[in-house]
Amino acid sequence: MTTYKLLLLPGDGIGTEIMAEVKTVIDWFGKRGVASFESEQDLAGGAAYDAHGKAISEATMKLAQESDAVIFGAVGGPKWDSVPYDVRPEAALLRLRKDLELFANLRPAICYPALADASSLKRELVEGLDILIVRELTGGVYFGSPKEIVTLENGQKRAVDTQLYTTSEIERIARVAFDLAKTRSSRVASAEKRNVMKSGVLWNQVVTKVGKEEYPDVALEHVLADNCAMQLVRRPKQYDVIVCDNLFGDILSDVAAMLTGSLGMLPSAALGAPDAVTGRRKSMYEPVHGSAPDIAGKGISNPIAMIASFAMALRYSFGLVEEADLLDRAISSVLSKGLRTGDIYTEGTQKVGTKEMGAAILKELDLLSA
Ligand code: NAD
Ligand code: IPM
Ligand code: MN
Repeated sequence: MTTYKLLLLPGDGIGTEIMAEVKTVIDWFGKRGVASFESEQDLAGGAAYDAHGKAISEATMKLAQESDAVIFGAVGGPKWDSVPYDVRPEAALLRLRKDLELFANLRPAICYPALADASSLKRELVEGLDILIVRELTGGVYFGSPKEIVTLENGQKRAVDTQLYTTSEIERIARVAFDLAKTRSSRVASAEKRNVMKSGVLWNQVVTKVGKEEYPDVALEHVLADNCAMQLVRRPKQYDVIVCDNLFGDILSDVAAMLTGSLGMLPSAALGAPDAVTGRRKSMYEPVHGSAPDIAGKGISNPIAMIASFAMALRYSFGLVEEADLLDRAISSVLSKGLRTGDIYTEGTQKVGTKEMGAAILKELDLLSA
């Protein structure tokens, strides 16, 4: 039986609450006997800053490099609003993504049947929704240099962020999107702003070329990113796979989250390139949401995005597709039985806390696998 090394980084705020729940799910799959999981837990974000003065320590980075997958909660919060920029909690996440070269971020927005009324959109617009946002994660304005605030001679300040993409960075994320589209409905929408950004022009050209030369059977559509945001709330089911840069992907995935009922529902997988020899890829799994300071410590956060992120780990890092399907089914089934955390609560359903939701998913796993 294969043993996988997991590094658990709960982070801050609700990160610790949702990690406690996914841990019980990891243990459940460990006991099932299809693979074994060796988990180590460490600090990241504000918690690491408080302990070491850095958002992530070198020792933790080493553990991340050596792990088969990092399971990440969430970082940040008002407590660290005034810490120096380079050591702010969010820097932990960015360093993990960059150093592990996790360039491909898969953010599926699936509206579970039971949640069609929890969305802010009308039921008929979101029922059956299944979109996959493929976000480029290690380039663009997040990492381009220069990135600075300089004081000018006249005393004014000037802030600079640099949006930067190379051909190969766009090619590799485009291939990920096209490959995934082939396993779905063979449609890709590429979102950029070629009307105002040079990086948008290049993005458009490169995605078009990769599509034409390597994926002639996949239908490719180009959409301006602002229009894409509008279309997502107008008629979201027109999309299957959406590929976009780092910043647009961040924003579009939060928009897509609300189509499914809540930001607390959206999982994600951040993947590197497969190793040339072993075929294994570095990976990190994290919910799309943040540390939710407004509800942290109350025991009411939704653990589903975190637990569904582990389902993505089963699928994409460990090749345990049946187990991944089982976990997804358990989540869907608990929702069908009417259990809801506050963020997805609608009249007539049963409101539960983080722990109850985690426990219900475990119980459902027992039932479905009996
Ligand atoms: P957020 O995602 O933390 O919260 C936005 C809203 O969604 C809040 O009202 C929150 O209560 C709600 N929400 C989010 N997740 C939820 C869940 N699981 N269950 C129920 N409700 C949930 O975004 P924010 O408030 O803009 O950011 C707070 C902090 O989190 C910031 O420091 C930000 O930088 C950080 N952040 C971290 C990550 C990450 O670690 N991956 C992602 C996004 C934001
Ligand atoms: C996300 C978050 C991060 C991002 C922040 C916390 C750095 O918003 O994962 O969506 O902007 O990528
Ligand atoms: Mn975000």
